[in-house]
Amino acid sequence: MITAKTSLFYRALFMQIICICLFYVSNVNASAVTESKFVQAFILLGENKSFNAQAALIEQNVADIPQVVEQLIAEAMVDGKKFEERMSLLNLASTIATMHMYWNGDKKPQARLDPIIDKELRLERVRMAEVMKWKKQERLLGNFVMKRNAAVMAEKGVAPVLYPHWMHRIYFECKVCHSAIFDIKRWSNNISHTEFDKGELCAECHDGNLSFATDDDESCIRCHVAGQAGAAKLLKPDNIDHEAIKASAKRIGAEWRPENLPEGQLPLDRFRMIDWLALKSFDVFKPLVSLDENYEEEIRDNRILFVGKTDSVDNVLFDHRVHSDWISCSTCHPAIFKAELGGNRIRMMAMARGRFCGHCHGRVSFTFADCKRCHNVPREATLESVLHRPHSDKM
Ligand code: HEC
Ligand code: HEC
Ligand code: HEC
Ligand code: HEC
Ligand code: HEC
Ligand code: HEC
Repeated sequence: MITAKTSLFYRALFMQIICICLFYVSNVNASAVTESKFVQAFILLGENKSFNAQAALIEQNVADIPQVVEQLIAEAMVDGKKFEERMSLLNLASTIATMHMYWNGDKKPQARLDPIIDKELRLERVRMAEVMKWKKQERLLGNFVMKRNAAVMAEKGVAPVLYPHWMHRIYFECKVCHSAIFDIKRWSNNISHTEFDKGELCAECHDGNLSFATDDDESCIRCHVAGQAGAAKLLKPDNIDHEAIKASAKRIGAEWRPENLPEGQLPLDRFRMIDWLALKSFDVFKPLVSLDENYEEEIRDNRILFVGKTDSVDNVLFDHRVHSDWISCSTCHPAIFKAELGGNRIRMMAMARGRFCGHCHGRVSFTFADCKRCHNVPREATLESVLHRPHSDKM
């Protein structure tokens, strides 16, 4: 009778036989060392947790191991390799070298590897600290650090740019910029002073007339402010200067009425982000719809109920009116959604990758963590009761 234990034993024995056979045909000089029979067998045994067989393999290949480790290092350090790939090769080399040290008594390959791995980890920590520094500036939803031309900015002694969506939302609806001035996708608009000097992109407004100019030496710091002390007022809505905003709004023909704010505070959602629909319902602001006075606004006044196939979550009500009030039809159709009822296979996984609703939600509009703000119609609700709900910006 073969018990579970003995069958495991036979499996280990079988793997050992396979690897011994592989060893005799092994050739460590295969073009990529990870493809050599020795390394392949070593990886396979590791995946099967056949550590005894792995140790045997290390003993049998004693003469080749220093060279295998060197080749793995060389492969790991090829220019342009991603950190994860590089570390996975170095970790493999390190496992081989450590076993070689214990079973064959040779410490040299491991001693050669240690400083290389330490250096890679140190470089990665510096890189992560840099990433986190900018992430902090972007914590408020829709704050984007712009540093495509970081090298040129550093050379000219200016900090990267902090673009605050929220501050612009006070003055303008999304349709003013999307897609009249900017495609609704980061890094896709080729933003630089070459375009500004032609009066385009940011300079359609930052022209010294509607707002401060891109070629005014006094104003560089107002945009090139990421990571600087001056960024404080753009990082937290609590730091908002109502009088300055009121004056700017008046100048450009928008409105800001902080006196309508309950207790003088901006309404925040559970995630401490600005609740724009509450702000609208309190009649605090009136953003411009277009910079073009002949613009004809188009609103689609209906609601679409997404009835889920699973019982685990409530249904989703999509308000075309609320959305087309802020956003132009052509921003969503057809690039983000086919304009066809039931024409889009919308899944949360795709959204998490920035498709469908995830194109805006979690990036500029409220986050995905707020499940109930979208999944807000009980599965048993009648269509009738849904249709008679007030729109959420008219509470
Ligand atoms: C004053 C102009 C302006 C207004 C108003 C504006 N945006 Fe943007 N938006 C931008 C700029 C600039 C970018 C970045 C473009 C780039 O990097 O090339 C951007 C990018 C985006 C992106 C892409 C994010 C990504 O990760 O790819 C989304 C989504 C977005 N905006 C949504 C909105 C929504 C929703 C509104 C209205 C509530 C809005 N924007 C209002 C200027 C604006
Ligand atoms: C549709 C017009 C418009 C566009 C396009 C626009 N802005 Fe603005 N921006 C404004 C207005 C208006 C203000 C309010 C400040 C004022 O003029 O009083 C402002 C304010 C700002 C502020 C806050 C500065 C401060 O000191 O309060 C920053 C930063 C900024 N814009 C950066 C940018 C960048 C970067 C771009 C391009 C990616 C851009 N803006 C595109 C109109 C615009
Ligand atoms: C309205 C906002 C704004 C103002 C004001 C502004 N810049 Fe910029 N600047 C930008 C943006 C946005 C970029 C592109 C950032 C990127 O590389 O992603 C940029 C890029 C740059 C670059 C990199 C080269 C390029 O053109 O892409 C330099 C250098 C620079 N700015 C210097 C200045 C100086 C000097 C001033 C003052 C005279 C100034 N900027 C004023 C928004 C502004
Ligand atoms: C911005 C709006 C929005 C938010 C926020 C949101 N969802 Fe969804 N979700 C949808 C839409 C739209 C669908 C597709 C509905 C359909 O056709 O079944 C969906 C579908 C689903 C589904 C069923 C199919 C799938 O894609 O897996 C589940 C489960 C789900 N959501 C869970 C969640 C949970 C949990 C959260 C919070 C962490 C959440 N959702 C937040 C809009 C949203
Ligand atoms: C925020 C994105 C967004 C905006 C802006 C938007 N739509 Fe839609 N639209 C949708 C979604 C989501 C659906 C549902 C698709 C589905 O059922 O798979 C839809 C469906 C439609 C449909 C088919 C269902 C219906 O309502 O008859 C038409 C037609 C349509 N949109 C037209 C428009 C027009 C016209 C505008 C501008 C006034 C507009 N949409 C603005 C997201 C948007
Ligand atoms: C092009 C950008 C964009 C897309 C795509 C988008 N939204 Fe929104 N959504 C907004 C903006 C802007 C608001 C206003 C509130 C805010 O910004 O936080 C909003 C508000 C909402 C609200 C609150 C208002 C209400 O209707 O009660 C819900 C719920 C919502 N969206 C669901 C969805 C769902 C579901 C989808 C996908 C089918 C979707 N949104 C796609 C930009 C977008």
